[in-house]
Amino acid sequence: MKQNIFDNENFFNGYRELRSSGTNFNDLLMQPAMDETLPDLKGKTVLDIGCGYGHNCLEFINKGAKKVVGTDISEKMLAVAKEESAHPDIEYRLMDMAEISSLNMKFDLVYSSLAFHYAENFKKLTEDIFNLLNDCGVLLYSQEHPIMTASIDENMGHFNLDENGNKISYTFSDYNLSGLRKVHWFGEEVTKYHRPMGEILTSVAQSGFIITEVKEPLPKPWAVEKLPSIVKEYIKPNFLIVKAVKNKS
Ligand SMILES: C[S@@+](CC[C@H](N)C(=O)[O-])C[C@H]1O[C@@H](n2cnc3c(N)ncnc32)[C@H](O)[C@@H]1O
Repeated sequence: MKQNIFDNENFFNGYRELRSSGTNFNDLLMQPAMDETLPDLKGKTVLDIGCGYGHNCLEFINKGAKKVVGTDISEKMLAVAKEESAHPDIEYRLMDMAEISSLNMKFDLVYSSLAFHYAENFKKLTEDIFNLLNDCGVLLYSQEHPIMTASIDENMGHFNLDENGNKISYTFSDYNLSGLRKVHWFGEEVTKYHRPMGEILTSVAQSGFIITEVKEPLPKPWAVEKLPSIVKEYIKPNFLIVKAVKNKS
């Protein structure tokens, strides 16, 4: 059965608390990097896969998008989206990302933040997205960096410290073993899928896209000021961001 961990009460509450903290890595690192990579949205149609609370959907409307569809597998996340990020030009749909080919629409931008590491069949997902895009349409997505998803034993992924307790390096394992990973977050077991960087970028490219940008975001000075420990991103990145364009055929 498809995992729907965000509908688990305990997980949902833990994640909600993290996201409202103001010093989480989404707000300090991933989201600013995604925002500066967005194409012009004026008059555009947007699909947000794994839209969660729908905050990005609303942001797209504020940036001029004419129509946004937000999809998510979690009823609880969509309930928040409908409450906090409602707009007449946003439609929220309960949908597993494995089913997006059933959407009977075309989009100028397919966007997704931190959901694609939950996709079992990434190649099919990128092919489906390609088919949903208009000519010259853009795919922009973020996921956990493959260094973060690599280790089968989750304790293998860890920072190494010097004698003063400073983080100096990072150890991980199983990088080139693509496949399912089980990790613990907010006391619950979470299923994710690890793919090495080569497999990720090749899947996007072989689905027909031209990859135009790949980011492993670093914190801006304002973020370091808010959370000094975030400089550990210089040792290894947490996130991978890929931007790709559907070539005019
Ligand atoms: C880390 S949250 C990110 C939410 C939102 N994109 C954001 O950046 O605030 C991941 C989201 O992906 C959704 N998700 C996980 N697996 C999914 C699947 N198979 N199909 C659709 N959505 C999924 C979760 O329910 C959750 O809302």
